[in-house]
Formats: sequence, C-alpha cells, structure tokens
Amino acid sequence: MKVLVVGGGGREHAIIWKLSQSPGISVLYCAPGNGGIGRMATCVGIEATDIRSMVQFSKDNAIDLVVVTPDDPLAIGMVDALEEAGIRAFGPRKDAAIIESSKVFAKGLMKKYDIPTGDYKVFSDYNEALTYLKETNYPQVIKADGLALGKGVIITKNFAEAGKALEEIMVDKIFGTAGNQVIIEEFLVGQEVSLLAFSDGHTIVPMVSAQDHKRAFDGDKGPNTGGMGAFSPSRVYTPEIANIVETEILEPTIQAMNKEGRPFKGVLFLGLILTQDGPKLLEYNARFGDPETQVVLPRLKTDLLDIFLAVADERLDEIDIEWEDSAVACVVLTSGGYPGSYKKGYPIRGLENLDGSHDTIAFHAGTRWQEDRFLTDGGRVLGVTAVAEDLDRAVKNAYKGVDLISFKDMHYRRDIGLK
Ligand code: GLY
Repeated sequence: MKVLVVGGGGREHAIIWKLSQSPGISVLYCAPGNGGIGRMATCVGIEATDIRSMVQFSKDNAIDLVVVTPDDPLAIGMVDALEEAGIRAFGPRKDAAIIESSKVFAKGLMKKYDIPTGDYKVFSDYNEALTYLKETNYPQVIKADGLALGKGVIITKNFAEAGKALEEIMVDKIFGTAGNQVIIEEFLVGQEVSLLAFSDGHTIVPMVSAQDHKRAFDGDKGPNTGGMGAFSPSRVYTPEIANIVETEILEPTIQAMNKEGRPFKGVLFLGLILTQDGPKLLEYNARFGDPETQVVLPRLKTDLLDIFLAVADERLDEIDIEWEDSAVACVVLTSGGYPGSYKKGYPIRGLENLDGSHDTIAFHAGTRWQEDRFLTDGGRVLGVTAVAEDLDRAVKNAYKGVDLISFKDMHYRRDIGLK
C-alpha cells in the first residue's frame, strides 16, 4: 500500500516512524517532510496547505491513503478535496475540523451539549470587549477565534495586559482574520492533560494520556511555544478521571458532532484541565498533538496503518487497539531565540550516537540534510525521545540522549516530565 503523510514536523516524523514498522506499506511519502523524515520516507516538495498539488500527486502516484495531520490543511478542506477525487484520506473533513479552527464554534458546542468547560463570553466588537475587560475580575484568558499557530491564547493578570492583548488581536490583527472574534474566558487552575482519541464518527477509542510543556523556560516561565517537551502517561490522570472524561466529554462530543451533522473522523484531541471541581475541557484540536504524538505512538502496539484504514472506512469497532505498559519522555531541542527570531543552518552534531539503541529516538522537527550532514532548519529542531519501564527512567534516558547532541545556540528545558 502507498501512503502519503502531509506535514513536516516532529509529529509527522513520529507518525512516519510508526508507519514504517507496518508490513502493509510498500511506499511511504511525506509532503513536505524534513531532513530526518527523509531517512524513512520519500519527501515530496509540496507545501502542507497546497490542496490542488496534494490531490494531483496522490492521483499521479496512485496513493492508497493520505494522512492529513496539521491543523491548517484540515481547516481548509484537504480531506474533502481528496475524498471528492476518490482518494482515501485520514482526518476530519472541513465541517468537522471547525472544532479546532473556530474556538467560538467549539465553546458553543460545549455549552449546547453540557460538556464541562470554563465560563466565557464571545465578542466581535472591540469596544464591547474592552468595556467588559474594564469591569471584570482577573486573571482572564483571551482567545482569538481562529487558528493562530498556537499563539492565540493569552493569559492576562490585569486590565493593562488584557487591553494590550485585545488591541493586538482585534485592532492590529496580529493573527489576521483569526482575530475577528475573541473569547474572554475564566482562568481555570489545575494540571493540564492531553487526551487524544481515534474516532470514525461512531466508535471512539482514547489513546494513552500525555502532558506537554508549553512555556519556553524551566518552571513554566517565558513565552508560549509550540511545545518544549512531553511525557506519557500523565501522573495525575487516574482511571477515575479517565472514566469521567470518557463519559462526560469524549463520547458526548462525538454524539454532539453527529447531531450537528458534522461527523468527526480522525484524531480528536482534548486539552483538559483537572480542576478541584473535576476535569474540564479547555479546547479541542482536530488532529494529533505535537509533541504529544512523539510520546504516545512509541507506546502503541497495534499497527497504525490498520487503525488509519479502520477509521477511514468507519469500522473502528472491528479492531483492538493495544498499548505497551511503558513510559515515554520527549525533550525538544530548539534554536536559541525561539519562539521569537532565531538563526537556521547550523550543523547538528552527535545524531549518529542516537542510533535507536537504548530505546532513544531523535524525532526531527526542523532539520534539513545538506552536503552529508543535518543542519538546523526551524525553531523546534529535534525531539529526543526515550522509552523506558517508568517515567523517571524515561526522563533520565531522554536527557542522556540530549547530552549526546549539540548545535550552536541550542536551547532546551531541564524539567521535562517532572510535573
Ligand atoms: N501540544 C499541543 C498541540 O499540539 O496543539
């Protein structure tokens, strides 16, 4: 079977790594891919959002399955276009991907179907939002409605911070039209847990739990990033909490999407917060998380291709999805300056020392292969990922792997997995 994965980050490298273990795959492509992915799949120079070229390539190469992972091609309807061209695709159609691409839609769904979440208000008028911010208590969370490269959620401690965030989003339009509407939401306190689940629109199967680290510096300081590391399982996601999440959030969401005429097929990601009043939903994503995928997929025993095909063909109830009783930690190495400006093109040393032995893998997020060596090519460069029998050992081994690697201006957090 010929499979094409759309995207080119650490998450896609983890998916390609897992798919490359599948005996059912004869050829694996990735568009656009990256330096590390190029070792396991044929990289194709098509941007992840170029729907027309992706459909054409899939037709020309008789692709049997296209796995669409990033948020933006899902939001603009890549799965719809592929299916309409007769190509089997994994991922939600545009009318279901809205669960991530519009936070106003998502919060409305939670409210309409009694899915536990924080109180909030929606504004499309800047002055009305500003008046509300003058009168409310703090902290408050301000969220741009649309996709904003993971930067559209701003926690504000007082009116000065809130007013500045609102102006940037609604007046300066730093996120473009994603800021046409905002949500102003109560700030919830608790540990955040990521729960991913496979759904074919009828059957929903949760994966093992994970937690990520969003801030750039140790102790959850500094600006938000795309993710500085992750680990699985979460230490705080107990079987009792899992039961509540599955019955009060996960299953009601799939039923709600069906009632809305928007059946959800693909990976549904719940961004949860475990409050004193129980688990609440912060947000949905319509895809695998990054870097959560890097710590979840190494624990998957079942063939990932079989799962993707079962989801696409709406027969997920026919397969058993099994997990290793192991733990995984992933430490992300970034270019100095990220998530602000940074330089690219520095040689990466020591990758040959991570040859997969000792259950440590380097998933490439932003690298390119040039003149027989890997160079840095993005803000997030590598995710050094270790599998072990428990979390403490996984964390220790991931940092042993990090010690083997170096590049100019390399930065990473030293407290991944210690929550
Ligand atoms: N780690 C959060 C995300 O993928 O959006």
